[in-house]
Amino acid sequence: MGTGSSKNRARQSTSPKGTSKVNPAASSSDPHSYSSQWVGGTNPETGEPAQVHRDTAQAGQGNNTMTAISNVQKTKDQLLKGVSILKETLHSEDDVPHVFVVFGASGDLAKKKIYPTLWWLYKDGLLPKQTYFVGYARSDLSVQAVRDKSTQYMKLQDDEKDKFEEFWKVNYYVKGSYTERTDFEHLNQEINTLPKGDLAHRLFYLALPPTVFKDVSSNIRLCCMGHEGWSRIIVEKPFGRDSESSDDLSQHLSKLFREDQIYRIDHYLGKEMVQNLMVLRFGNKMFSPLWNRDHVQCVVITFKEPFGTMGRGGYFDESGIIRDVMQNHLMQILSLVAMEKPASTSAEDIRDEKVKVLKCMPPLDLDNVVVGQYTGDPEGQGDAKNGYLDDPTVPKGSVTPTFATAVVFVKTERWDGVPFIMKCGKALNERKAEVRIQFKDVPGDIFGGQCKRNELVIRVQPQEAVYCKMMVKAPGMNINPEESELDLSYGARYKGVKMPDAYERLILDVFCGAQLHFVRSDELREAWRIFTPLLHKLEKEKIKPAPYKYGSRGPQESDDLARRFGFIFSGTYKWTKPQL
Ligand code: NDP
Ligand code: BG6
Repeated sequence: MGTGSSKNRARQSTSPKGTSKVNPAASSSDPHSYSSQWVGGTNPETGEPAQVHRDTAQAGQGNNTMTAISNVQKTKDQLLKGVSILKETLHSEDDVPHVFVVFGASGDLAKKKIYPTLWWLYKDGLLPKQTYFVGYARSDLSVQAVRDKSTQYMKLQDDEKDKFEEFWKVNYYVKGSYTERTDFEHLNQEINTLPKGDLAHRLFYLALPPTVFKDVSSNIRLCCMGHEGWSRIIVEKPFGRDSESSDDLSQHLSKLFREDQIYRIDHYLGKEMVQNLMVLRFGNKMFSPLWNRDHVQCVVITFKEPFGTMGRGGYFDESGIIRDVMQNHLMQILSLVAMEKPASTSAEDIRDEKVKVLKCMPPLDLDNVVVGQYTGDPEGQGDAKNGYLDDPTVPKGSVTPTFATAVVFVKTERWDGVPFIMKCGKALNERKAEVRIQFKDVPGDIFGGQCKRNELVIRVQPQEAVYCKMMVKAPGMNINPEESELDLSYGARYKGVKMPDAYERLILDVFCGAQLHFVRSDELREAWRIFTPLLHKLEKEKIKPAPYKYGSRGPQESDDLARRFGFIFSGTYKWTKPQL
């Protein structure tokens, strides 16, 4: 295996050591895995809680400018301290090589996300010293070709050029099929030729279409498992397309790997503000008395993108927005918003609570759902002129939704009767992901109906923020209520602090063996139970989605549905962006 070779050497292997190892438990006992990576992880060696986020949250309780400045500095220091704890832990494994294999190295995800993420982790010194990267795909490529495709996404700085060269020197590429065992034997042989490769810990990233998940996972199991070191497999969504196919895949994987070896990625779990939900909810006394059916009118969880399928319609049409975003990203957020306080921050305690939420949710009812599909805007610019059906890769007359709003209920003592309104769509008016908790009206109004409902908004992206819309007395001689806000904008409060990308956190978690921000098989099963009847009904009855114009807020029916379930949009709130 050469760093620049494009030669297909996939069939050179004869007797790889790995083929004789058939017991996943034996080959992959995992003494170095963290029990929790949350708040930067508990260091298993010292038992000390890692401090990244905890200290960040504590930083800055003063309220004058000097205190704020010194607290921002403190936050940066604490972040650096957190990073150094991670480094220490990972570098305690420096004598053991790690091999990260990217299956589907020729693909879109690999070039846009996986290789850039590996580079960022590498250049920040967050990976164990002897880490090697092996790209694997059917295409006749070379490391140089992979490099050429992904460099534009790597945000390379001028002073990083030497490090960048170093990074590519520990990259390799192997060409091979996804189905032939001999190709995987060859891959294993190539891994073994790396320095101490036969002793290495192995991470396998499946950046692949679901059609080949089964073949690839079986072949990894048969041919490529670590001999001395552990092996972990990272699976990208979609995990099936309904309950049956998901169960089938889960059963297949569970025959090959232990649950603690499987990392099902939902990259929303790696986002700063999604991880923040735990601290906001359970680190503040003021929210817990309000976080229930007595005070909350409804919860709106929104995902909006301002572009359409952009030529990926063929892929998208197979899934639609419900499978693409709602069943996974929005449901993960919902379970973190709705769950009870876990016994601890360990992965299992938290995931147990998330699963309990899902178990208390009945399947979705079509009466509580609106689906939409975008049409072109004749007055729009460029891509906006085209509707979904104008995309040549989309089948003619497709009824696949590109927008959906669904109202679900969590039948627990805390939430019974509170609508959780999930809304997601492509080709909308803006890019936004947020959680909006709308509180009930104040009973016994004395202000002549001038008060608007409080809302707590946790904006996941862009421009992360937590803000609370509230009533204050309008400054001046009168006593008139006015809408204002408590505003924690991260850009202002944590100026200059670099927020890691979701994939950076998650890939690092896999190196650390931290499962918290990954989807457990029972979570997956429950999520599909909630969505499968609806999806089957939409497909069987070919229910026509409501049209909405590219660049709009989605179909009117969505606002009508939200209103029916008690969400009130007053349209009177105005926010003035503070001068930074
Ligand atoms: P708005 O009152 O403008 O919007 C509230 C909600 O109403 C949104 O969920 C929106 O949904 C929905 N909505 C908008 N138009 C309609 C409509 N015609 N019918 C029914 N529902 C509607 O308040 P925001 O909280 O969104 O704040 C306004 C602006 O101020 C935003 O741009 C926000 O980002 C900004 N802001 C930023 C802060 C910060 O950065 N720290 C702090 C405070 C405010 P939908 O998303 O579907 O359009
Ligand atoms: C992916 C979906 O999971 O999330 C895409 O498949 C979507 O359709 C993407 O565009 C959005 O991710 P982000 O991080 O840009 O919000």
